Formats: sequence, C-alpha cells, structure tokens
Amino acid sequence: MYTLFELQSRIEKAIAAMEYPNHPKNLYTPIAYIMNLGGKRLRPALVLLAADLFKGDIEEALPAALAIETFHNFTLIHDDIMDNAPLRRGQQTVHEKWGTNNAILSGDVMMVESNKQLTKVKVEVLKDVLDTFNATAQGVCEGQQLDMEFELREDVGIAEYIDMIRLKTAVLVGGAMKIGAIVAGASKEDAQLIYDFGENLGIAFQLQDDILDVYGDPEKFGKQIGGDIIANKKTYLLLKLQELAEQEDRAALASHALNTTTLPDKIDSIKALYDEYQVKELASQQMREYLDKAFAALAMIKVADEQKKELIGLANALMHRES
Ligand code: IPE
Ligand code: IPE
Ligand code: MG
Ligand code: MG
Ligand code: MG
Repeated sequence: MYTLFELQSRIEKAIAAMEYPNHPKNLYTPIAYIMNLGGKRLRPALVLLAADLFKGDIEEALPAALAIETFHNFTLIHDDIMDNAPLRRGQQTVHEKWGTNNAILSGDVMMVESNKQLTKVKVEVLKDVLDTFNATAQGVCEGQQLDMEFELREDVGIAEYIDMIRLKTAVLVGGAMKIGAIVAGASKEDAQLIYDFGENLGIAFQLQDDILDVYGDPEKFGKQIGGDIIANKKTYLLLKLQELAEQEDRAALASHALNTTTLPDKIDSIKALYDEYQVKELASQQMREYLDKAFAALAMIKVADEQKKELIGLANALMHRES
C-alpha cells in the first residue's frame, strides 16, 4: 500500500518528465504550460489509488494516470474557451495567452497524447482500458454540450442538472478509477463498484466546485469568482434558488439572466439571494449525500478496510477543499 502523498510525488515526477515535440512551438508550448500550472492531480491519484487497492503495480498504471491527467487538462483548455474564463489555476487561460484557435488545436493534440500514453498499458487489458476511456471521453463531451445548452434554458430541473454534472465531471472520476482497477486485474464487479464510488464522488466534487465558484477565496480557488453567475450556468445553487424564491425574487433573477456582462452588481445581487435562501447549505447537504453513496459503493468492495484508508481520507478531504 502506498500513501496518497507517495503516489502524488510519483505523479508529479512523471508529469515533470513528460516531453512534447518542439515544433510547431505554439502547438506544444501551451501543453507544457497547462500541465505544469499545478492543479490537484486528483484524477491520476485516483487511477493509482484504485490500482493499489486491487494490488496492482503502480508503475504499470502510471501511463494510464498520465493519460487521464492529460485528457483532463485538455478538457480544461476547451472548457475555458466555452466558459469565456480568464483564469485557470491562478494564471491566464491558454486561449487568453495564445488565442482561441491555438487553444483548440493544442487541446486536440492533447487528446492524441492521451491515447499515446494509454497504449503503453499491457496488451491483455488494452481493449478494456480503451473502451472505458472512450466511453468516458464521450460522456464528458455530452455533459459539456448539456452544460452549454442549459445556459439558455430557464426550465432545467435538478435531476437534469445532476445528470449533466455526472457526464461532464463524474464519469471521468469514475472512469479514472475503473481504468486503475482494470490495469490491476480487478474483477468486473469490483471495477464497476470502484466506478460507482468515483462517479458519486465526482458528483459531490462538482457540487463543491459550484459552491466554490461563488464562495471561494479567489487566491486559493485560482478561477474567476462568480464566473458561473455571469454565464447563467445552471448550478445546484441557482436551481434551488429558482425553486424556493418568492415571486418578486424570481422576477429579479429572470432580469439578471438577461444581463451577460461582468457587472459586479449581477454577482452581488444573486449572491445575496443565495444567502437569503440558504442554498449553499442545501448544496452542501446534497454533496454529503453523494459522498455517502460513494462510500456505500466502496464498502461493498471486499478488500480490508485498512486498504481503503487513503481513498476515504482523500474523499473526505475533498469536501473541505478550497481549490
Ligand atoms: C476542474 O477540476 C474541473 C472540474 C471538474 C470542476 P479540478 O478542480 O480537479 O482542477 P485542477 O486539475 O485541480 O486544477
Ligand atoms: C467542469 O465544469 C467540467 C469540465 C471541465 C469538463 P466547470 O466549467 O465548472 O469547470 P471549471 O470550474 O471551469 O474548472
Ligand atoms: Mg469552466
Ligand atoms: Mg464549464
Ligand atoms: Mg466550475
């Protein structure tokens, strides 16, 4: 068994050693830029933790972990274009620095780089790993499409929202863990249970991201605070508010939705309504419920509790994260 700290150190070392071609410079420099901006390295850590849980070889799982982190960073580059985001991990986003077309193409080639990493897994599990990766990547695109479509809709329900974040965020968390399990030779049942753990953890993780987007400390969060409010993102906070708000507050909300500029007034007014209706607390409760679902799936995996310690610790810590 490895500690989370040991696995994270291994991942950092491997990411620092990743190399890309030199030419064309503007295609590859953004990749090294975003990959080395830091970030929590959550998903590659989950690949390795899952592999370790099923007594797999960490070095064998490492290329899959790098593939997943490269894919994640690719989705961030494209997500920041779609969300018109100026900041990522406290620094300028790739499209702000290199332009949108460049950011699209650097993102595209990162998807290829992910595949190149993935084909390094041992041949016995390659098909299974690729099938899981492809299903995951397709799910993320579906979720991102829904996320954008929801910006323009005023009738999104909570169940639809949960399904959207399941796709855009949670399938990758689940998929990362399933891939770690497959590389370690876990049974189909165990691979599914660890997927279920990851998917529910991922839903809780995105609920927390939505909360931090409003209530986070800008220094620590590293992204523009209020970005979701400006873009009319349908977050749990907003949907709960729409559900609970009195007539006149609902009318105020609807008029704010027409304003897509970055006026601080819009952020302040909506945040005041969030506070008034205590939707942050409701979102935290919902997050806790998904964390419990995740733990219920983990409990069904027939591995000694001692071996689940690092995973449980990480999942609990994520619920109190600030970045
Ligand atoms: C950001 O993911 C995208 C979401 C799914 C919310 P992370 O919060 O894991 O970002 P980094 O990699 O740590 O920067
Ligand atoms: C995360 O959604 C989903 C993906 C990046 C695929 P967000 O748009 O909330 O992520 P952040 O907040 O920009 O990291
Ligand atoms: Mg975004
Ligand atoms: Mg987004
Ligand atoms: Mg977000």
